[in-house]
Amino acid sequence: MCRTRVVRRTGRASLTVGISGLVVGTGCGRIDGFATVTPQGGAIANLFYLEIVLASLVCLAVAAAVVFAMVRFRDRPGAPEPRQIHGNTRLEIAWTAAPALLLVMLYVLTVRTMATVETEVPSALRVRVIAHQWWWEFEYPELGIVTANELHLPVGQPIWLDLVSADVVHNFWIPQFGWKKDNTPNHVTPIHVLVEQPGVYDGSCNEFCGVQHAWMRVRAIASPPEEFQAWVARQQQPAQATVPRGQQVFQQHTCINCHAIQGVGGARVGPDLSHFGGRTVIGAGVLDNTPENLRAWIVDPQRIKPGVLMPGYPDLSDEDLRALVEYLEGLK
Ligand code: CUA
Repeated sequence: MCRTRVVRRTGRASLTVGISGLVVGTGCGRIDGFATVTPQGGAIANLFYLEIVLASLVCLAVAAAVVFAMVRFRDRPGAPEPRQIHGNTRLEIAWTAAPALLLVMLYVLTVRTMATVETEVPSALRVRVIAHQWWWEFEYPELGIVTANELHLPVGQPIWLDLVSADVVHNFWIPQFGWKKDNTPNHVTPIHVLVEQPGVYDGSCNEFCGVQHAWMRVRAIASPPEEFQAWVARQQQPAQATVPRGQQVFQQHTCINCHAIQGVGGARVGPDLSHFGGRTVIGAGVLDNTPENLRAWIVDPQRIKPGVLMPGYPDLSDEDLRALVEYLEGLK
């Protein structure tokens, strides 16, 4: 997995010195709440910048007034007692009215931003984003696709993401999309995004949801419409299985009780594995998807991600394990 590291950024983000903990990047997908790639994220970021500027001005004005008073009215040796003041109606009206006006202005701007980000787009593609402890399921009801942990989206087209949870409260957060909303059980929260730039955008669950909350990563892959259509066409077909022995292992052991593969069957408890070989990560980001990592994951997932629902298979013969890994990695 691309481990997250803090990176220095210049330009617009330099405005946010002191809160730079929010600006992070990864080796592959970017995590950067300031370099947004959706109009929704842009509107939210602009409101945020404005609030930071206004708050900084208020802070500077108050600090300057305090420093001025400290210097101008300091006690000097032999000075007489200063004139005693018991209130100033004009000043009090001013410092009550000014913050109130400022708050009204921020309220209006916030409501306008909310209207921008929540505009209805009737023709948008819908994706159901189902959060599970501790992975993400993506269902495209109109396209008949179910996949996991990697959300594929076309660039330049409006999308509705219907957030929901299969168990506890989670939170879907891809910083560069701008949105951060809860996935709640039995309640659909729709959010609207339009990704403007192709790229890989990483995010994570952002509501504590159990021991592996930190390893509930999500990755969005935004591609040009024709590339997205090609991905859709691949997903709609069962993958060509090239290792019959591996498929047998999948069916004969308990894999199939939790994982589904198109054309083979299986239950929809854990991630759908129909095109597993085409994904970049295992276990919602805990490992890169390589044959060695997959092997380690199947043998003992509890060592890698303690608490995960998947049991280990330490008793699989070496031959069976190799066939299973080869089979799953071949499902592209
Ligand atoms: Cu799911 Cu935190």
